[in-house]
Amino acid sequence: MCGIVGYVGPKTAGTFLIDGLRRLEYRGYDSSGIAVLGDDGVALHRAVGRIDNLVSVIGSQSPSGSLGIGHTRWATHGPPTEGNAHPHRGGNGEVVLVHNGVIENFQPLREELVAKGYAFQSSTDSEVIAHLIADALATSPRDSEDAEQRYVDAVQQTANRLRGTYGLAVLFADCPEMLIAARFGSPLVVGVGRGEHFIASDASPLAGHTDRIVYLADHQLAILRPGSLTVLHRDNGKISPDVQMLETETEQVSLDGYDHYMLKEIYEQPDAIRNAMRGRLDDQNATALFGGLNLTPQQLRSVDRIILTGCGTSWHSALVGEYLLEEFARIPVEVEYASELRYRNPPIEPGTLVFGITQSGETADTLAALVETKRKGHRTLAINNVVGSSIAQAADGGVYLHAGPEIGVASTKAYTSQCCTLAMLALYFGRLRHLSYEAGKSYIENLRRLPAAVEQALSCDALVRGIAEKYQSVNTFLYLGRQYNFPTALEGALKLKEISYIHAEGYPAAEMKHGPIALVDQHTPSVFIVPRGTTYEKVLANMEEVKARGGPIIAIACQADPAIDSLADDVVHVPAIPEFLQPIVSVIPLQLLAYHVALMRGCDVDKPRNLAKSVTVE
Ligand code: F6R
Repeated sequence: MCGIVGYVGPKTAGTFLIDGLRRLEYRGYDSSGIAVLGDDGVALHRAVGRIDNLVSVIGSQSPSGSLGIGHTRWATHGPPTEGNAHPHRGGNGEVVLVHNGVIENFQPLREELVAKGYAFQSSTDSEVIAHLIADALATSPRDSEDAEQRYVDAVQQTANRLRGTYGLAVLFADCPEMLIAARFGSPLVVGVGRGEHFIASDASPLAGHTDRIVYLADHQLAILRPGSLTVLHRDNGKISPDVQMLETETEQVSLDGYDHYMLKEIYEQPDAIRNAMRGRLDDQNATALFGGLNLTPQQLRSVDRIILTGCGTSWHSALVGEYLLEEFARIPVEVEYASELRYRNPPIEPGTLVFGITQSGETADTLAALVETKRKGHRTLAINNVVGSSIAQAADGGVYLHAGPEIGVASTKAYTSQCCTLAMLALYFGRLRHLSYEAGKSYIENLRRLPAAVEQALSCDALVRGIAEKYQSVNTFLYLGRQYNFPTALEGALKLKEISYIHAEGYPAAEMKHGPIALVDQHTPSVFIVPRGTTYEKVLANMEEVKARGGPIIAIACQADPAIDSLADDVVHVPAIPEFLQPIVSVIPLQLLAYHVALMRGCDVDKPRNLAKSVTVE
C-alpha cells in the first residue's frame, strides 16, 4: 500500500508531486505529505486524510524548488496522524524520505538508534530508515572525492540492514540536484524525461509527463539527476537501465463525466471484455491464442493439475475459473487463497501449473505465493491487468487483461475481464485435449456474445437504483447462487460490504439451510442469482424456503418466469447466455446495487474506509 512520488528537473516539483499523489491516492488515503528542497532548505507539508487536505494545508504557499518527494499513506505502523505522515526526516533533517512497504525488524533497529541518541518523531517503521541513512552518513568521511558515492553507500548500507519490503525515495538537504530511489518487494518506477526524472509507485503519475519508463527490480537503486539516471544492483554494480515505452493514456485515468471511477469502470465492462478477447480468438482452429504463456503446446498438454490463487475479488474469479477449467479442459483445479498458499506446503506434483490472478499485479500475498511455488520449481503464470507489475515480472509468463486502469477500490471491470480470460484459457486447454472442433466453434460464438450481453445488462441501472432505495438502511444482506453463480454471490456480497459497510454474506444457495437461514427475517433481504441452468429448480426451492420465513427476495434472473415473479419482491432481468458465461453478466446488477446503496448511505464509493487499491503488505 502507500504511494510515493519524486521529481528532479527544471520545473516546480510540487506541481508534479501533488498531481502524482492524486493519481496514487487509490493506494492509501490515511494521510499524505510532500517535501521540496528549495533555496531555503527543505519545506515539508503533511496532512491527515485525503490529498485535498494536504492542498489546503499548503494553501497558496506552494513550495518553490525543483526537487522533491511525496507520499500518500495506508497506515500499518502507527495511527493515521500528522506526525506519522511521510516524509520523515533522519538525523537532524539532513535526510528526508518516503517509504512504501513494511520494515519487519524496525523495533530492534529503532532501539539501536535511540541508544545512539536519535530522536524519533513518529511511531512508524519508516522513520528508522531515515535515521539509519543519517547514521551511515555520519560515519562516512565528508571529504571523500566522490560525494555522490557517499550518499549511495549510505542508502545501500541501510538497505542491507532492512528486513521486509521497501520502495524508497530519498532526498538530502545538502544535495540540491540528486534523488535516490531503492526497491525491494514494493513496486517502483522511474520516469525518464528531457532534463528531468520522476519516481512513482506505478506508472499512472507519469502519464502526460513522459512515456519512457524504467521498472526498478528488487535490490536495485537509482540515482536521479535532472540530466542523468544511473541504476545500480546490490550485487552486480552499475547496470544499463531497461527503458520501456509507457502505454497509459492520460484520458484513461480521468472520470470522463462519470461521478465516480467505480461507475465509469462498471460501464467500461463491455469494452474491457472486448479488449480481453481482442486477437485471442482463433476461428480457424476453434481455440484461443495466448502469446505470453512461454510454454509449448506439448508442455501445456502435459499439465495435469492447475492451482489458481489470488485474493479478494481475484480469488472469486479463480472460483469461476475452477468451474470453467474442470468442465471444459477436464483438468483438476484447486483454488487457494494466496495468503494461505504462501505459508502452506501442499504436495505439488511436477505436472502442476500455478496461476496467480490479480488486477494490480502488486498484491503481496499473491506475489509471495507465486515466488514460493516458483522457487520449488513449478511453472507459474500470471493473469494480470497492470503491465510490468511485480507479479508480471515474477511469473514465468502470463496473460494481460488489457482492461485499462482500474482506479475505484472496488474491483469491477478487472473481475469480469479475469472471468473472460479464464473462459478463454478453459477453451485453450480444452482444445489441447479432448474438446471437439465443433464445441470450440460454438464456445467462441458464445464468447463473442458477451460484450453485447453485458451492455444490455447495464440497462438495469434505474431499476437497481430503485431496489437500492428500498433496502439502503438494512443491516444484513444474503447473496445466494449455485454452481457458476456461487462465486457471483460471493462477489456481490463483497462489493456491497466493502463500499457500503453493510454486513453481507455470500453462500452456495443450498448451504443456506446449514446455518445462514437463521439470519432470515423481514429485515434481511436475500439476493438470489437464479439464471436458467442445471440448478434452476433447486434455487427456486431455496427461494421458497426464504419466502416461507418472511425474508424479502431480490432475484437476478434471465427471463420472465411466473414462478420467480411470485416468489421475489424485486426481479432484475439480465440477458441469457450459456451457463458458463452467465457469471460475467449476472454480476452487473450486483455491482450497480452496491454502488447505489453506498452512494445513498453517503459512503465514499471510490475510496472506502480502511481499504486501498493495492494491498502490498501481507
Ligand atoms: C475487492 C477488491 C479486492 C482485490 C484484492 C486483490 O473489490 O478489489 O478484494 O480483489 O485486494 O487485488 P488484486 O486483484 O490487485 O491482486
